[in-house]
Amino acid sequence: MDDHNNYVSWKSRWTFIMAATGSAVGLGNIWKFPYITGEYGGGAFVMFYLICILAVGVPVMIAEIMLGRRARTDPIDGMMKVARESGRSANWGVVGIVGVLAGMMILMFYSVVAGWALDYIYQSITGAYAGANHLAIKNDFGALTNNAPRQLLWHTLFIFMTGVVVAGGVTRGIGTAVETMMPLLFLLLLILLGYSLATGDFAGGMHFLFYFDPSKLTADGMLVGLGHAFFTLSLGMGAIMAYGSYMPASGSVAKTVVAVAFLDTLIALMAGMTIFPLIFANHMTPEQGPGLLFVSLPIAFASMPGGQLVGTIFFVLVTIAALSSSISLIEPGVAWLEKQGVRRIWGTVMLGGAGWLGGIACINHHAVFDMLDAATTNIMLPTGGLLIAVFTGWRMRRAIVREEIDDLPPWLFNLWYAVTRLVAPAGIALVFLNSIGVL
Ligand code: PHE
Repeated sequence: MDDHNNYVSWKSRWTFIMAATGSAVGLGNIWKFPYITGEYGGGAFVMFYLICILAVGVPVMIAEIMLGRRARTDPIDGMMKVARESGRSANWGVVGIVGVLAGMMILMFYSVVAGWALDYIYQSITGAYAGANHLAIKNDFGALTNNAPRQLLWHTLFIFMTGVVVAGGVTRGIGTAVETMMPLLFLLLLILLGYSLATGDFAGGMHFLFYFDPSKLTADGMLVGLGHAFFTLSLGMGAIMAYGSYMPASGSVAKTVVAVAFLDTLIALMAGMTIFPLIFANHMTPEQGPGLLFVSLPIAFASMPGGQLVGTIFFVLVTIAALSSSISLIEPGVAWLEKQGVRRIWGTVMLGGAGWLGGIACINHHAVFDMLDAATTNIMLPTGGLLIAVFTGWRMRRAIVREEIDDLPPWLFNLWYAVTRLVAPAGIALVFLNSIGVL
């Protein structure tokens, strides 16, 4: 029996698309993208981020899924395996190790933010926001983020939910969950977008999001934009590699990636087009930081007919989107532990427990929260992506790569290969150098 048979696989290509989309679409799209766009000045930042998705994110995602499917095992053993297969050093397993660590570090702050969404479900159900004015809602976000026990409760619940799904195995539980929830999330976002269009300062919002003023793009903004391209597509840390290892051998990697990247980008832009018009209509500034989502939408819900119900459902869906991402944050580590003989349930308890402890540190020290976010998003994920692109483009045998990506016509394959070898690594390196002032 080879490792193949130890590995479960998705029901179909569609389930894989939904699972990968479930991992990609999360707090990064609905919470993070709008607020960093607000902080880094709007249109030019958005444009730079879109270029990163296309020129770096898509090619690296193809590489990552390809590596996972080739290896058919967790990212640490998997990197070692594909490296040896091409006659390279097993030290490439380090990419998997750093990835597992990055996943854990992301979970620590991710789960705290998901906890805020849970708190908002509770607030919406109990009607705490019904008819509240925008100052009261804004103050309540401040109160939440300075109230450790209140955050701890929800953070603990979210880690527990993540653990239950991961312990139960990804394929059946998550496969089915994401297939129904992702379309629902999309529908609700459409409804909110309609509301924003009708009542918000839509022109102002669109101008802010899409007006290209290159002078507003800073070196920091570029690093954040690149980092976010990795974060939002779940790249550079092995999550997509682990998911790719469960992918049926017959599916097309490239087509799947295009679908996932498109859906992920669409949902981020829809979130931005919903939030900014509401921000401007309520005389707030876009640089609200992490509170942007948690202040602007409750304000809208408070004044719209049926807002209590819509608000509740919306934050339920934010939670689901977060959950379908958080499971993929510890899946690589749990799969690795399982391969080493640790039972899935115990692997989940260990890694979930570590994430829970780290979350407590984030709750009590906002600096830890910020540090974990910046270290993973701006440094670890792009570095992981850089190594994945370099490995695929320069170290792996081309014939093996071609065997895995066999459905592309030669010109498209060559284009992707060249971008993976040259454009993606050079782009990442340039943004790094620029951010430390070398360029
Ligand atoms: N892509 C997820 C989001 O946008 C976050 C994530 C990053 C998930 C890395 C897995 C791996 O919310």
